[in-house]
Amino acid sequence: MNVLIIGSGGREHAFAWKIAQSPLCKKLFVATGNAGTAQIAQNIDIGILDFEGLGKFCIENLVDLVLVGTEVPLVAGIADFFAADERLKSILLIAPSQTGAMLEGSKDFSKAFMLKHGIPTATAQTFDSSSLKEGLAYLETHPTPIVLKADGLAAGKGVIITSDRSEAKQTLIEMIEGAKFGSASAKVLIESYLNGIELSVFVLTDGISYQILPSAKDYKRIGEGDTGLNTGGMGAVSPVPFADEDFMQKVEEKVVIPTLKGLQADGIDFIGFIFIGLMNVAGEPWVIEYNVRMGDPETEVVIPRIKSDFLEMLALAAQKRLSEAKIEIDERTATTVMLVASGYPEEYEKGKVMTGFEKVDSEVLTFHAGTSLKEGKIITSGGRVIALTALADSLENALAKSYKAANLISYEGKYYRKDIGLDLA
Ligand code: AMP
Ligand code: GLY
Repeated sequence: MNVLIIGSGGREHAFAWKIAQSPLCKKLFVATGNAGTAQIAQNIDIGILDFEGLGKFCIENLVDLVLVGTEVPLVAGIADFFAADERLKSILLIAPSQTGAMLEGSKDFSKAFMLKHGIPTATAQTFDSSSLKEGLAYLETHPTPIVLKADGLAAGKGVIITSDRSEAKQTLIEMIEGAKFGSASAKVLIESYLNGIELSVFVLTDGISYQILPSAKDYKRIGEGDTGLNTGGMGAVSPVPFADEDFMQKVEEKVVIPTLKGLQADGIDFIGFIFIGLMNVAGEPWVIEYNVRMGDPETEVVIPRIKSDFLEMLALAAQKRLSEAKIEIDERTATTVMLVASGYPEEYEKGKVMTGFEKVDSEVLTFHAGTSLKEGKIITSGGRVIALTALADSLENALAKSYKAANLISYEGKYYRKDIGLDLA
């Protein structure tokens, strides 16, 4: 099969690394990719929202399967675009319909979906410019801490949590009237706070059957001890020790199955990943959010633990034959540590030459995120630069390997959190 992966981060490098190993894979393309994917696939310079260009490329290069890594084209309706084109509709596609992608694209939509289908989630009310006054009044009596969420896509940064009522009011005004998160915060959810430990559960579905993938825990804040600004994710661990069999059974019964039944009942086509952001509150799963793609950097620890042929699984899912797939999981622990640019997640510099790759143990998987090639050199080209994944028989041993590698790769302004996974050890 010829395969096209859409996206350019560590997640897409991890997908490419895995798919390239499948005997079913003939040619592998990544749009637009990075310096890491360039080593194992052909990067193509077509934007993720250029559906015409991507479709034309697929036809000309006999692409059999498209895996959409990132949410932006999903929410913009890439699946509907392919389905509506006679020449593209037979291409196997891992992408939910545009309506399905609203589970991630609109928190108001996903909240209504969860409430309708009895899926445990925090209570919330949505406000916009026409109801700002009511929103401010609602904040007067809402229990603290208060969670304010931009309705639309905000790259994981659209959530503000505060116990200070006047700050909450100020933030609500800034979000709705000041467009703090652009059009994403034209509508804002005021939500109750869930007190617990977070984890992510990933499900691949063809809309009928599903396959639960390994769970993972992400470290979202920039600073050690979970302090500072939210980022895309600074590291991850899989499996999550507290997600034991009993907890995972509750997740399956109370969240996964009702989610799939809800999609079916609402007539929503869904082939792809459901990434369930969960809070474990006293042993019970509560949904914080849905995403309609894999997580980044969670993919960098989930994918290396899948022993079976991932491309075969994707191809079966895209044909609505996922029930035929078997998944074999590596029992070992995977950890990943993300190296980022100084200043990230605020302003940061790019173009720093990276060195030290040859010193890294060959067992460590170096998944490139924001890197590119310039005059034969690997340079930084994003805030999150590279994810260093290791597998070992214990969390401690995997972390030791990831951190050894983190120390060996050099570039000006390198920063990484030194406490990934320590809360689980
Ligand atoms: P989201 O973009 O919905 O994933 O939210 C970003 C982060 O905000 C989550 O990863 C949680 O850490 C936190 N968060 C979101 N909603 C809640 C909630 N209802 N209670 C507690 N924390 C939350
Ligand atoms: N790491 C969180 C996300 O991918 O949304």
